[in-house]
Amino acid sequence: MNAAPLPPVKLGVLISGEGTNLQAIIDAIAGGDLRAEIRLVISNKASAGGLERARRHGISVMTIDHRGYANRRDFDHALAEALQSHDVELVVCAGFMRLLSPVMIDAFRGRIMNIHPALCPAFPGVNAVRQALAYGARFTGCTVFFVTAGVDDGPIIVQAVVPVLQDDDEAALAARIHAEEHRIYPLAIRLYQERRLEIDGRIVRIRDYGHSAASGTLVNPRLD
Ligand code: GRF
Repeated sequence: MNAAPLPPVKLGVLISGEGTNLQAIIDAIAGGDLRAEIRLVISNKASAGGLERARRHGISVMTIDHRGYANRRDFDHALAEALQSHDVELVVCAGFMRLLSPVMIDAFRGRIMNIHPALCPAFPGVNAVRQALAYGARFTGCTVFFVTAGVDDGPIIVQAVVPVLQDDDEAALAARIHAEEHRIYPLAIRLYQERRLEIDGRIVRIRDYGHSAASGTLVNPRLD
């Protein structure tokens, strides 16, 4: 007899901009690849394009402008209250350009994910794609991780590797990284929904990990 399917995970998505990762999550849910329900999308900017994407799909939206708060903690209290009042289980930061304080991290311990356009721990903070290019890295990519108090250094859930090509400019490389982000963020959330993630210190263990081509070695430039 098959076990009953696990319930959809209730998401709160935090954004500041275009929201293409939000869109990828919406699409994964609509396509049946992810059992989740987006309870609320919050932006700290009223002009964020992602708000319109959410509205178009009938998702509740809210703008909480950080400039209206005296400090990070007060802002985070407002965030946590809004998320909790919408019964959010997992907080998904998707291009949310604010650092979270212990107020949010404690309120949702082990239940906040973020995505960074680099292979953590390389190139943390802003302009990660520009940093990778300037450094001359042959590979970069993107990382989904659990948020901790540090900057882009929480336990890693999923990474995708993107080669840096000789003629890449920032826009071209960023576009290829973005395409991978749209694949790995829904995957990371699905692993959470399936209760397959276990945080063990700074290591995330994945139940039923199995084998995959992703464990293959990559070389750039090609060896042949
Ligand atoms: C992504 O590159 C993500 O890695 C970074 O912010 C960007 C958000 O893009 N944290 P979008 O708003 O999802 O299009």
